[in-house]
Amino acid sequence: MAEFDVQSWSAERLVRVERALESWVGIDAPADLGEAMRYSVLDGGKRLRPLLVLAASEAVGGNAQAALRAACAAELIHAYSLVHDDMPCMDNDVLRRGKPTVHVKFGEAGALLAGDALQALAFELLTPESDQVPEAMQARLCRLLAHAAGSAGMAGGQAIDLASVGVKLNEDQLRQMHRLKTGALLQGSVLMGAACGEVSTAGRAALADFGAAIGLAFQVVDDILDVTADSATLGKTAGKDADQDKPTYVSILGLARSRSYAHELYAQALAALDASGLADTRALRALADMVVNRAH
Ligand code: IPE
Ligand code: IPE
Ligand code: MG
Ligand code: MG
Ligand code: MG
Repeated sequence: MAEFDVQSWSAERLVRVERALESWVGIDAPADLGEAMRYSVLDGGKRLRPLLVLAASEAVGGNAQAALRAACAAELIHAYSLVHDDMPCMDNDVLRRGKPTVHVKFGEAGALLAGDALQALAFELLTPESDQVPEAMQARLCRLLAHAAGSAGMAGGQAIDLASVGVKLNEDQLRQMHRLKTGALLQGSVLMGAACGEVSTAGRAALADFGAAIGLAFQVVDDILDVTADSATLGKTAGKDADQDKPTYVSILGLARSRSYAHELYAQALAALDASGLADTRALRALADMVVNRAH
């Protein structure tokens, strides 16, 4: 198969995602809330979740309108999770995406409400009144996103994270925390992309395995970068996991074993794509590579 140029593949999609977010986020909100929502979402972030939605949708010949909406919805849930994650009652961070965090800029109530409104907007985007997206597909997308964001996904994982400060988790407990707090939304992004088109049961299961592997790998690498990268590169405060006594892959397995675990998960992700029976998985492969080999 021809050489795949991931740079131009993602550049084209990022333009579409940025334009859509720009046109949808915070538009009808009262002044401060709208500003806080736009500050939280626009101008920053790798947009990995939207790219995963679009890549999975393209792999199954999905509905492009549905996929763009799902891509933005996943990013909105992610942005909301970051706004709340940074608040003083959670990780108490002052730097995010190279800027002061939302509560620093807009106050705690402003950050809380911006997160609430971003979460609601995500579901509004998935349910347009026009007939661009069939209603059954809208319902499936809502269900997948709600599951990824809620108590069995991100919010549940964040609860485990907060309850685990100063606690020595075993590897199974740590894996479960990471699967939920971060893995669920990344896997959900892949599954939402798949739900924009037609895919066999085996193909969907393979994509679920792919999403689970890269979702976990993503947080393993986040834990590694917290130790190995600096704040300027990360755009967020480095070294804070150890400062806050959070159990992480690095604190439990050490750096070398964490790195090899991330590579093992990468290999699992690629094996799942090989087993998927899908004709063109080059973009998904390239995104898996980005998850594991990123610098920030
Ligand atoms: C950071 O996610 C938070 C985690 C889930 C580990 P990203 O590293 O994807 O953050 P942005 O979107 O690029 O800022
Ligand atoms: C956050 O994990 C996961 C979320 C659901 C936001 P972290 O607390 O490690 O994320 P960072 O390092 O602050 O981005
Ligand atoms: Mg956190
Ligand atoms: Mg944090
Ligand atoms: Mg982190």
